[in-house]
Formats: sequence, structure tokens, C-alpha cells
Amino acid sequence: MCGIVGYIGMKNASDVILDSLRRLEYRGYDSAGMALGIDGQIEIYKEVGKVADLGAILEKRKPLATRGIGHTRWATHGGVTVANAHPHSDGSKRFALVHNGIIENYLDIKEELELEGEEFISETDTEVIVHLLAKVFEQTQDMIQTVTVLQERLRGSFAIAVIQQDCDDRIFCFRKGSPLVLGIGEGEMFCASDIPAFLPYTRQAVYLDEGEIAELSPRGFRVWNEGGTLQEKPVNLVEWDVDMAEKGGFSHYMHKEIHEQGMVLRSTLKGRVSEGQVDLSEELDWSPRDAARWNRIHIIACGTSYYAALVAERAFEKWTDLDVKVDIASEYRYRRIKCDQDTLAVFVSQSGETADTLAAQRKARADGAHCLAITNVRGSTLAREVHSVLLLKAGPEIGVAATKTFTGQMATLFLAALYLARLRGTIAADEEERLTTEFLQIPYKVEKVLEKEKDILPVANTCADRSNFLFIGRGISFPVALEGALKLKEISYIHAEAYAAGEMKHGPIALLEPKVPVVVVNPRDSMYEKTLSNIQEARARNAPIIGICTEGDILVKKHARAVVEVPWTDEEFSPFLTVVPLQLLAYHIAKILEREIDQPRNLAKSVTVE
Ligand code: F6R
Repeated sequence: MCGIVGYIGMKNASDVILDSLRRLEYRGYDSAGMALGIDGQIEIYKEVGKVADLGAILEKRKPLATRGIGHTRWATHGGVTVANAHPHSDGSKRFALVHNGIIENYLDIKEELELEGEEFISETDTEVIVHLLAKVFEQTQDMIQTVTVLQERLRGSFAIAVIQQDCDDRIFCFRKGSPLVLGIGEGEMFCASDIPAFLPYTRQAVYLDEGEIAELSPRGFRVWNEGGTLQEKPVNLVEWDVDMAEKGGFSHYMHKEIHEQGMVLRSTLKGRVSEGQVDLSEELDWSPRDAARWNRIHIIACGTSYYAALVAERAFEKWTDLDVKVDIASEYRYRRIKCDQDTLAVFVSQSGETADTLAAQRKARADGAHCLAITNVRGSTLAREVHSVLLLKAGPEIGVAATKTFTGQMATLFLAALYLARLRGTIAADEEERLTTEFLQIPYKVEKVLEKEKDILPVANTCADRSNFLFIGRGISFPVALEGALKLKEISYIHAEAYAAGEMKHGPIALLEPKVPVVVVNPRDSMYEKTLSNIQEARARNAPIIGICTEGDILVKKHARAVVEVPWTDEEFSPFLTVVPLQLLAYHIAKILEREIDQPRNLAKSVTVE
């Protein structure tokens, strides 16, 4: 939620920051702003709306500067107004600051500062930080000491970048609880909430740890820890390249990302499956003894990541002998579920920054569990806090609605399940070989489904005007139905509910009528016939059926108004194939309705608030 960026170098800072903000816009897009250091003064430009609206102002004013900070906002404190947009500055306009996160004790600090005569012009928690910073700086005259005091006073989460009026060759940034990464260029430096912000300029990155403070100048950077001690920081080469963060000829990032799923699966499997076995020993320092010690596994996540976890639940149940529990992070963290050193706790998060998932992880870790992160972002808070990490290898996902990371998460979880099964001796070698052989075919099968996009267009056309949809599936197809309904509601704003097909008769069947399309996920698997009965129940109420079935199926076709066929695969792998038509259906309906597909209303990609 919210994206921040800072730049110092030789280029036109206004152009660079605007470009970087465009790449961070997935984090929040209700207003945007920039502060530039120009001839010992700070100039601030802000606008409500998209980064492009800010760009229109800058286009007219054409400011020239070589250092600055920028922000794209997802409103938390105060409405969407120019006054509430960042950057904020102190009363004397000596500092300007951008912030991603939430300050929990801002009202106390604000009251205290107001008593001292400070005046505020916004409703934000952020404005309080910059006033406090200016006050403390008056006394210390040293930025590092000032930030150290701030870190002690502020409660909540923050990643902050600051420019100072009379300090032409530096910008500062610091973090606690929210992500911040430095980009190291030639004669230029960046700080940003996420790597795509500076990918066109550099692939050298430094991840700031909790509580760290960085000083950036065109010549380089220095980092201090929370206690004010200088730190040595490793520079990492980012694997992503700039094309991965571009639309590449597609009209929307989401569309491109749906089409990248075959490639994501190939990268996820590469080097991890060979000779009929899954081998994660280079990434997971797990001995057969560790693996034998665990007797339960908790898989915890939010949103789409939770649905990927629900799919994986079936795989862990089938291939291992562990007790499997899957929960939503915002529920898990408040429950009293048995969790101890015999528990493997798996946290699934594309961003690795989701506040509830992080909090759940901290709880499980405190309870003694071994924590594994499944994430797409190396260096994310989650990746840094857990005992073990498996990366998705999906490349940056810019569309707010998750698609390719869902596929990457399922694949990575499946790899973990097969690996654990072997370490625990619960899967026979020939069965593992058979499964891995099929797993390696899945990227090609996903690409075959993508070729069916033309069949989905007429389906989208016939139902884009409907107000309600029902998605149903059983067994491993139930979480696929949940994900299909989530995609549709997120990007088209059409109400869509998902149910385990067998539950329909216990309530939701009352909704059915000719205007409510029922999307049924029914590949040829052990639940196929049961789901066919549920299709018939819906047909009997005259609801139009959209079926997702296996190639050559005639029974689903018989009852359905439209079908999309997917290649045959083993039951466990079918979600990789059946989810694709649902993603495309949601995409094309939203496109017909002219929705903001990559930036749906009220949403942001990285949910760093609880
Ligand atoms: C849906 C979506 C969200 C995220 C959820 C968790 O399309 O993107 O539901 O899946 O906010 O985010 P991560 O995976 O970053 O923890």
C-alpha cells in the first residue's frame, strides 16, 4: 500500500521519479506527488488521481532537479485530497517526506506537537512524522541521530524517504515494518518500495533490514543500523529484467501475466525436478531427521495466496502423512491452534509484505514452529524473517489481481509437498517419477489452454451484463472456483460467489435463475460424477452453465451453455489448467465493461496494513 521512491544523480529527477512511480503504481493509485530539491529549495507537486495526472502538471512546469522523492498513495488516514497526498513537509518547509505504512501513535504525537504550536494542514499520520523530524533535527543537527530518535518514537510500520532543503547532495531513507530497497546506479542512487521502480536504471540492489537508515548521494550510499552503527551491506544482482516489468505488447499487465504462466511454471520447476525426483536440497537445509520430526503442517496466507494454499492442502494430504491445516492469516494469528517445534508452518505471500501474514509468521515462530516462506520477492520482509525460503520465480507481477503468482505458488507448494514426502518416505519412487513426469508437462498444457482464449471471448460477451455469478467445484476444484470468483469480482466488480458444489443445495441454490450464470469447474477426476449431479441441479433451475471440463467430455457439454476444455492431467495438477479459463473470463468481462483492469478500485497489490 503506497509506493515510495527517491532519486539522486545526474538525470532529470522529475522524469526519473515519474517513471519510477508509474512502475510502483500497482501499490496505490488514488493520488501521487513529488518533492524536488532545486537550488537549495524544496518544490512540491501533488495531484489526486493517477501518476499520469501528476505527470500532466510536471509537463507544464518542467522542473529541473537532480534529487527528489515521490509517492503514489493508497489512502489510509484522510480522504483522497491534494492536501493529504504526499510528500508532506514541516512548518518551515525545510524537509519533505514520503511514507509507506501506518503510524499508530500519530494522534498522541500530533497533540503534543500542536501544544508546542505546530500547525497541520492534512489529516494524515505522515505529516506528523515530518513535523517531529524537523523538531528533533533542530536539536541534533544530525540526520542519523534524528532518525534514531524517530525510530524510537514512532509505533507502527514505515518506509520513509526524506529530502532536506539545504543539503543538495544527499537524500535519506529508513524503514521499519514496510519494505525499502536501494538501487545502486552509475553516479546515481535510488530508494524504492520495490525493485521494478528502478529496473530500467540498475539491477544492483541493497535490501534494507528492519530499523536501518540509509544516506544516498550520487557517489554511493551508507547504511546505519537502528542503534546508529555503520553497516556493511551486500549488493545483490536482481534476476528480473526490465522487460518483465513492461506490458510487452499486451493492453494490460494482467493479460500479459496470464500468458506468462507456462514460462513461470518452467522457471519454477527448472533445477528443482530431475530424474524423476524433486530436489530442493540447495534451497532447503532440511535433513530427513528434520522432516521426520514434523507431524503437522500449517499453511497460512491471504486472498489468492490462501486459495493456492487450499489447492496445496490436497497435495500435502495425498503425498505426505502430515496433519494439514490451512488458514487465513488474519484468522490464524488470533486462534489458539496447537503449534510447536513439531510444526512446519508455511507462509504463502506473493509480495512477502502482507501485514497479516507477517504477524501470523511471527506468532508461529514464537510458538517454536519451523517457518517456510513461499514468496515471489527475494529480500522481502517475510523472506528475511523465516527459517527457510522457496522462491516462486514468477518475475514481477504488476497487475493488482494475482494470476501468474497463483500458478507459481501452487507449483512451489507442490514441489515442497513432493520433497517432504520423499524425505519422510511417504511416496514410492515410481509414483514420484510418474508425478514429476506429468508435472514437467504442465507448462505445455497451460499453453494449450491459453490457445483457447478465442473460445472464451464469446462466453464473456454473453454474460458481461449479468449482476451475479456462482462458481462451483468439488475437491481440488473448489479452491479453483474460489479463485475464479475472486478474479471476477476484483476486476469487473460483478458479484460472484464460490461454493463447494455439494453445498449448493444447502443454501445458494435459492439464488439460481436464468440470469445467474453458474461456472462449474469439473475436470475428469474422482469428483467428476458428483459435480455432474450438481450441474443437473443448477440446470433444473434454468441457470446457464459455463463448464470447465476435460477435452472430449460430452456430459458437461450436454448441460452447459458453453464449455472450455482443458487437456487431461492428474487430479492434483488440474488446477493449473482449470484456473486459466477463469482468469481469462474475468479479464475479458472486465475489458468489455471497460474497467481499470490493472488497478481495480479500492485495491492495492501489497497489503501492508492489518
Ligand atoms: C487477489 C490478490 C490478493 C492477494 C492477497 C495476498 O488477486 O492479489 O488477494 O493474493 O492480498 O497478497 P500476498 O500474496 O502478497 O500476501
